[in-house]
Amino acid sequence: MDSFLNPNSPQAQTIWDLLVWSLAVGGIIFAIVAGLVMYAAARYRAREGQSEEPRQVFGNQRLEIAWTAAPALLLAGIAVVTVTAMRVIDPPAKQPPDIVVTGYQWWWRVEYSQSGVVTANEIHIPVDKQVLARLEAADVIHSFWVPELAPKRDMIPGDHTNTIWLAANKPGIYRGACAEFCGVQHAWMRMLVVAETQAEFDAWQQQQLQIPPAPAQPALEGARLFRELTCVNCHAVGGATGAAGVGPDLTHLGSRLTLGAGVLENTPDNLAAWIVEPGAFKPGVYMPGYQLSEAELRALVVYLETLQ
Ligand code: CUA
Repeated sequence: MDSFLNPNSPQAQTIWDLLVWSLAVGGIIFAIVAGLVMYAAARYRAREGQSEEPRQVFGNQRLEIAWTAAPALLLAGIAVVTVTAMRVIDPPAKQPPDIVVTGYQWWWRVEYSQSGVVTANEIHIPVDKQVLARLEAADVIHSFWVPELAPKRDMIPGDHTNTIWLAANKPGIYRGACAEFCGVQHAWMRMLVVAETQAEFDAWQQQQLQIPPAPAQPALEGARLFRELTCVNCHAVGGATGAAGVGPDLTHLGSRLTLGAGVLENTPDNLAAWIVEPGAFKPGVYMPGYQLSEAELRALVVYLETLQ
């Protein structure tokens, strides 16, 4: 279940424990107060034939001190456990961060500071390691949220960058989403966090570092179309172009699990359909559709699938 109800990292577990404990304490107090109110209402209700007012009580210093001090002590206790939890969730950031995640309308750019690997909508992390992500935004405010692993955190355009520690207790694919309304496709601004063993992570990173070989048959025609149809104006393909980061880097598109930040499974058929009309799947997306002949479309997909 991709929900905060299923914590899978030390920080998500800490938040969960804090929630459960505060709810339990609050629940016990609620039960005591509601019980006493019901008891008093039943025990001291007006009886038949009773006409005079009950004895009136004005002020009771001991009671008043007690019911002022008790909640104050309780809140002080909750403050202590909250601050302790915050220190577990947000230990001091380090420089440089392990990854930089940038929110775009409506996808995520992910850059690994040390290796220089750039990818999109998919964050790979080694299991049981704390990974520090710096959060940035290219256009509007987004919010980074992987419910099973970490709290929500805003991604703010400009100089104000936030950081967040990410970790996963066990290998798996954890789904995340943008948690701050950021335009029409906010709901389709999804990401995957792939937690894997250190060896698998290292292998993945090595593979991401490979610059794809110059296109050869049968991908040559597709590579030409990619250049000529202006795809390169927005999408970089490892070193081969000097493209801007307007759209996701496609150097290793073929190895990703989804297309369009989670809207489609990454299959050749879906890729072809996406190129023809991205707006059919993500209305409002900034990528235009391309009217291509069947042969051109097939060639383009063949080329893109070689980008492993
Ligand atoms: Cu990005 Cu909502």
